Amino acid sequence: MNNIKAAITAVGSYVPDHVLTNKMLEDLVETNDEWITTRTGIKERRILKDPDKGSSYLGIRAAQDLIERKNIDPAEIDMLIFATTTPDMPVAATGVYVASKIGAVNAFAYDLQAACSSFLYGMSTASSYIESGRYKKILVIGADKMSSIINYEDRATCIIFGDGAGAALFEPNEEGYGFQDEYLRSDGIGRNFLKIDAGGSLLPASHETVDKKQHFVQQDGKTVFKFAVSNMAGVSEKIMKRNNLTPESVDWLVAHQANKRIIDATANRMNLDNSKVLMNIQRYGNTTSATLPLLLSDFENQLKQGDNLIFASFGGGFTWGSIYLKWAYNS
Ligand code: UT7
Repeated sequence: MNNIKAAITAVGSYVPDHVLTNKMLEDLVETNDEWITTRTGIKERRILKDPDKGSSYLGIRAAQDLIERKNIDPAEIDMLIFATTTPDMPVAATGVYVASKIGAVNAFAYDLQAACSSFLYGMSTASSYIESGRYKKILVIGADKMSSIINYEDRATCIIFGDGAGAALFEPNEEGYGFQDEYLRSDGIGRNFLKIDAGGSLLPASHETVDKKQHFVQQDGKTVFKFAVSNMAGVSEKIMKRNNLTPESVDWLVAHQANKRIIDATANRMNLDNSKVLMNIQRYGNTTSATLPLLLSDFENQLKQGDNLIFASFGGGFTWGSIYLKWAYNS
């Protein structure tokens, strides 16, 4: 039997300097700090202000952080998966540009779009390639400039999202550390509830679509919330059962940061102690493809070799899933 597992061997991240606080949002829409804090757990988010910089900038900075932290030679990277919902441009994959910019001259690259589950699906893809033995170093970057698709007059969305990026390097491991199992799902019903109407092949950009603000994210928050709670908790519980994991043997829940109440509900279903739930939503909001690697990067110091990590995400589409991974190193 093949005993090669796909381990995460390095992480990195980047968030822009500009902080958009709940108080500042009170000047833009009818909302208040107390409502946002109690309903979402978010206190502030980061915004990439420079109009001439896109998600590639965020991703490049996160990749450079990873490269510096572990002294990686970018020329050794075989493949780069750029998980994003906000590519620099609709045509010309952003990951290709990012690979060239970080010196990954021997890699091939592409973008992967599955809304908030983009990074989780990217982890799955990278792990399969590593396990197959075909590639030895795969960089998965999750980066989103959500501020580029948010209407700052819409309180249903502008309070939630922020900009950021994170990166993780996958390499073969023969000691049992790394990717163990996954349960990934999707359901097309979701596109009615979380979407951007225009700018794609169904409704190309026009003066009318711009006038009608159809290039911004729209969300039926209540419906998405319900699906998110039941599905993210469901897959996390399933992956625990399937791998005979108990609340004691799970060390960390690494969950998509969309709403603290969704994360708490997932942890409850898993019977997990709060101390095992990684959380940084209060500082960054929902950074879409970047939430999972941002957690890994922020909490890297606390992760120990052999720790059992359960990743979970839920996002537009709908897309969702859970991955069980054994952490491979002490930092
Ligand atoms: O990552 C991708 C997936 N996305 C998600 O997982 C997001 C899922 N959804 C959510 O996180 C939540 O649904 C929201 C945070 C978006 C909204 O929270 P909610 O508890 O579902 O609020 P609601 O939409 O049911 O609105 C409750 C009340 C309403 O007022 P009435 O009708 O009760 O008088 C809203 O008009 O709160 C009002 N409201 C607000 N008030 C202050 C809605 N948005 C705001 C706001 N500030 N920003």
